[in-house]
Amino acid sequence: MKAWQIIGNDGYGALSLAQIDSPTPAAGQVKVAVRASSINYRDYATIQDPVARGLALPMIPNSDCAGDIVEVGAGVDKSLIGKRVASTFFQQWTDGDCSPEAMNSALGGALGGVLAEEVLLDANGFVEIPSGLSYVEAATLPCAALTAWNAMVETGRAGAGDTVLLLGTGGVSVFALQFARLLGARAIVTSSSDSKLERMRSMGAWETINYKETPEWDTAVLDLTDGAGVDVTVEVGGGGTLQRSVNATRVAGTVGLIGVLTGGQIDPTPIMRKSLRLQGIYVGSRRMFSDMNRAISMHQLKPVIDHEVPFESAPEAYRAMEQAGHLGKIVITV
Ligand SMILES: NC(=O)c1ccc[n+]([C@@H]2O[C@H](COP(=O)([O-])OP(=O)(O)OC[C@H]3O[C@@H](n4cnc5c(N)ncnc54)[C@H](OP(=O)(O)O)[C@@H]3O)[C@@H](O)[C@H]2O)c1
Repeated sequence: MKAWQIIGNDGYGALSLAQIDSPTPAAGQVKVAVRASSINYRDYATIQDPVARGLALPMIPNSDCAGDIVEVGAGVDKSLIGKRVASTFFQQWTDGDCSPEAMNSALGGALGGVLAEEVLLDANGFVEIPSGLSYVEAATLPCAALTAWNAMVETGRAGAGDTVLLLGTGGVSVFALQFARLLGARAIVTSSSDSKLERMRSMGAWETINYKETPEWDTAVLDLTDGAGVDVTVEVGGGGTLQRSVNATRVAGTVGLIGVLTGGQIDPTPIMRKSLRLQGIYVGSRRMFSDMNRAISMHQLKPVIDHEVPFESAPEAYRAMEQAGHLGKIVITV
């Protein structure tokens, strides 16, 4: 079977399409015929710098896939064969708090990834695809969607009448907008692009701010909320945006700290003064994934796919992410 492998430190130029043996599921594992794999900024960053991350090469990238179970190992229910499933980002985080064991079970990181025709998953390392979603759509859920769900629902407890702040229009933020709509919250969205902001408004964003034209976007958010700030901020920017996100969030509000797109330093004093809840978010558990899928099915939510890239052209997907022209998800079809 074919698999893409990271073989060096040259970014997507160091991706190689290899012919490797078809894997055999061990006890407690299932084999999945992969139909689609979405990419996340983290996969791009991993490909850019695998050596600094201490990854053993060659390594298959990507955490997110959807496909069909075609074989099961000893001790696994044979009736699972034929089920349409999506990988869980962490193979060992079923419920409860995150743990070192969970962190050591991340696909496309501590463990090998899923950009291959066939992959092995733990019997607890997948969920069934929500009804009504294609493989391409389901492949967008394991990382970006679940991270947005965790930030909005599990951590942020956003609900009807709340106002949320979403940074940018990438995979996580577009799902966060869809969840805000589903929850009855109103969303303020920032972006570097007016045309992307127009699309976010057409998808239900309440207000939008171009963060290039309005570098003091936190003040604009305060103006939009009568000086109070938002209830929940989905913080994908990192050090370079966090100070303004803190400023834009209301007293006793929540900032879900997700991203590492920008570098910078932060003065912690306003976090204390505003009694803010600043919560690190690392994707989410399998139980959260199941909860999210129930909501996706019930509300017939459709993931926003920017474009698809055929398996043989996979490096193009990372190049597109680097160019940052996308809105929503980029998916590799297998
Ligand atoms: N902690 C976790 O569990 C977790 C999970 C998923 C992702 N992440 C992290 O979250 C971040 C986003 O991931 P993603 O997969 O959604 O990436 P993505 O699809 O590549 O989206 C990135 C988007 O961020 C926006 N952006 C860049 N710089 C910005 C800035 N200074 N202010 C506001 N927005 C900015 C851009 O939006 P515009 O083009 O509209 O300007 C860009 O399109 C990454 O750092 C990623 O590593 C973390």
